Amino acid sequence: MRSHLLNDTTAESYRRSVTEGVERVARKLTTARGPFTGVTPAELAPAVDAVDLDRPLGDASAALDELEDVYLRDAVYFHHPRYLAHLNCPVVIPAVLGEAVLSAVNSSLDTWDQSAGGTLIERKLIDWTTGRIGLGPLADGVFTSGGTQSNLQALLLAREETGTTDLTKLRIFSSECSHFSVQKSAQLLGLGRDAVVSVPVDRNKRMQSVVLAAELEACRAEGLIPMAIVATAGTTDFGSIDPLPEIANLAAEYGAWMHVDAAYGCGLLASRTRRGLLDGIERADSVTVDYHKSFFQPVSSSAVLVRDGATLRHATYHADYLNPRRTLAEKIPNQVDKSLQTTRRFDALKLWMTLRVMGADGIGELFDEVCALAREGFELLAADPRYDVVVEPQLSTLVYRYVPGTAASPEDVDRANLHARKALFASGEAVVAGTEVDGRQYLKFTLLNPETTAADIAAVLDLIAGHAEQYLGENLVHA
Ligand SMILES: Cc1ncc(COP(=O)(O)O)c(C=O)c1O
Repeated sequence: MRSHLLNDTTAESYRRSVTEGVERVARKLTTARGPFTGVTPAELAPAVDAVDLDRPLGDASAALDELEDVYLRDAVYFHHPRYLAHLNCPVVIPAVLGEAVLSAVNSSLDTWDQSAGGTLIERKLIDWTTGRIGLGPLADGVFTSGGTQSNLQALLLAREETGTTDLTKLRIFSSECSHFSVQKSAQLLGLGRDAVVSVPVDRNKRMQSVVLAAELEACRAEGLIPMAIVATAGTTDFGSIDPLPEIANLAAEYGAWMHVDAAYGCGLLASRTRRGLLDGIERADSVTVDYHKSFFQPVSSSAVLVRDGATLRHATYHADYLNPRRTLAEKIPNQVDKSLQTTRRFDALKLWMTLRVMGADGIGELFDEVCALAREGFELLAADPRYDVVVEPQLSTLVYRYVPGTAASPEDVDRANLHARKALFASGEAVVAGTEVDGRQYLKFTLLNPETTAADIAAVLDLIAGHAEQYLGENLVHA
């Protein structure tokens, strides 16, 4: 069994094994005809069930053959130009190279004595990101597992900075379109059920700062504490960016921590033409960025950044065996002092390789391309009588609904849109997402693949209309 350990004696087997895996994936990439095969859980489950985990196959080739049947053949492929659903990006090759290196070396970024250069690389990328945001000389941060964790950590710091122990008094303000991790965080942080005040959005799905101001005033009048305002720079559903300068003014006026959830919109930090959309982000107390959304990085790659690095102390605990207090005095850079995690992947290496090979402009250009594509898609939808489109995109998301030319109730139209999404998924020809707007069913494209063209969008809209029409034809006749 020792032959399976990665060490000085097995370097050749490592090379062969990993190369074989890479070959299989490369073949998949070149042969996948659509983003998905349309397999159902019932069809796939027997193959997975049939695997006896107590009877190993013994060699990598056989395990890869088996993997073909239980995973690779039917995986959902984000690199395909007709994968248009969630906030998943195709990944850039330098980052995949970084992933291969980091998993083999397997550094853990909690302490210097488990990572050495990895720690310095992560710190440099944190400084690079805070510099791009403009958070100032005291800024700091840490890589996390994703936007959910970044938001949780930011709100933990915000809670601690209030200095209050009466958690029932704390309020968080975020738009009705903010990510549900804000609510989850509030619960995990022990705040009351009413802690998150949902602020309505305008017709462009941006937080209404006038209502925010009124809510803050009401909060103050009731003797409650405005713990944090969460502004979203790129809402999950619409890609809308809340009015950051106005929110920053209100945060300053009411003494609230300003957190910007830029999990999606962070790609603008690398854009040479659209960076202005984030104006005001530099006034935040904390920022979430998901490199695994708009920096074309493999999952996971995210960070939480703070204006005042000293606030990260709220996540600091000392263990004699790991990061004893004396290491602070010795100025040993232990990233665990800033993190909610202990053992932690060297995800920063992926971004490092990306910046060293492509540069930030390269990433920014890719993100600019998908934002430009969304604009083209919007024009297609706006001119198409079969569709109702919700808002002009600020980033790369389009939310729309098939509307038939013939009379049909809103409920039937809901069902037709739901059916079209499912039928498309089952066909494997394209994958789109769905959401609700004002209680009605809508469909969604999240465009993150620069290889997707306007022609792809037009073709997918035709497919959706075909499925929806067929549904209405069959169901309205029999009604
Ligand atoms: C605006 C926003 N914030 C936070 C998150 C959560 O990020 P993650 O899925 O990386 O935890 C998402 C995910 O889609 C998001 O869109």
